[in-house]
Amino acid sequence: MTALPKAELHLHIEGSLEPELMFALARRNRVSIPFKSVEDVRNAYQFTKLQDFLDIYYAGADVLRTAEDFRDLAVAYFNRAAADGVTHAEIFFDPQTHTLRGVPFDVVMQGLLAGVEEARRRHGMSVLLILCFLRHLDEESAFSTFRSSEKWFDQICGVGLDSSEVGHPPSKFAKVFAAAAAAGLKRVAHAGEEGPPAYVYEALDILQVDRLDHGNRSLEDPFLISRLAREAMTLTVCPLSNLKLRVVEDLRDHPIDVMLQKGLRATLNSDDPAYFGGYVADNYRALAAAGKISHAEGITLARNSFLGSFLTDEALTRQLENLDAFVLRHAAQQ
Ligand code: HPA
Ligand code: ZN
Repeated sequence: MTALPKAELHLHIEGSLEPELMFALARRNRVSIPFKSVEDVRNAYQFTKLQDFLDIYYAGADVLRTAEDFRDLAVAYFNRAAADGVTHAEIFFDPQTHTLRGVPFDVVMQGLLAGVEEARRRHGMSVLLILCFLRHLDEESAFSTFRSSEKWFDQICGVGLDSSEVGHPPSKFAKVFAAAAAAGLKRVAHAGEEGPPAYVYEALDILQVDRLDHGNRSLEDPFLISRLAREAMTLTVCPLSNLKLRVVEDLRDHPIDVMLQKGLRATLNSDDPAYFGGYVADNYRALAAAGKISHAEGITLARNSFLGSFLTDEALTRQLENLDAFVLRHAAQQ
């Protein structure tokens, strides 16, 4: 499952900040962090819910100050993702986490784009950027971020919605998502990770999302399941994240098999790999080890990752041909 060509569609670049790089950047920028050692950091990664993680994730991001920091962060992720068979990545970034600390939007963009260029050059990987609004902040803050991003629109593929879900329904961001749609940007939103099925309906009907991030709790509503299947809505599912944030108590209880049986276009992703104990191929392997997916379902999930991407038709065809060729080659070897 490691070498299987795949796309990653749900990855917060700030969530790929490994403790080693956190320490290196803290030293480089002379920023103090509330940890004594790498083990100290890893020991702190014990969560019982989304908010526990978010508190530590925003604190960790404080070491990111310069364009070079964002480049180094992105390059480290792309190198690691390439080793996991990722040939295409659509990555989230959270500008407000940085602009509110005084790091200019343009610095974030310049650094990330330098990293994207390196991924293309070094791995032939294609990358799209998705700007996420922090939903615990108000819509005016999202609008001001949206305005800062205008001059970068040709480098941004879409907008997303992340951070604390419960109490911050998608409808809170109706206007800014409408503005993003008018600007020709794709729309995605985290919904149904901790929030109820009603939030998934709002993401679909009010934000008019092109893709749904997590979506686990959609399974509580049979009408919603049928609709998602009928509309071939892609769900970016993150099993190791679900385990770490107690969305599921055990991977043997993970609903990925149910999602596939119900005809949902599910994909596997790492979410925040530095915090949740694994990159994307680890997520495939962990589900296989838990008896949740067969080899054939692993291939279906990889195919879904390309089908659910925002690649052009031409690039999509190339990625699917590459996947099919890989599968044939490996079937011939067995
Ligand atoms: N959910 C919500 N917000 C996030 C997540 C997540 O899984 N990861 C980073 N920000
Ligand atoms: Zn996420």
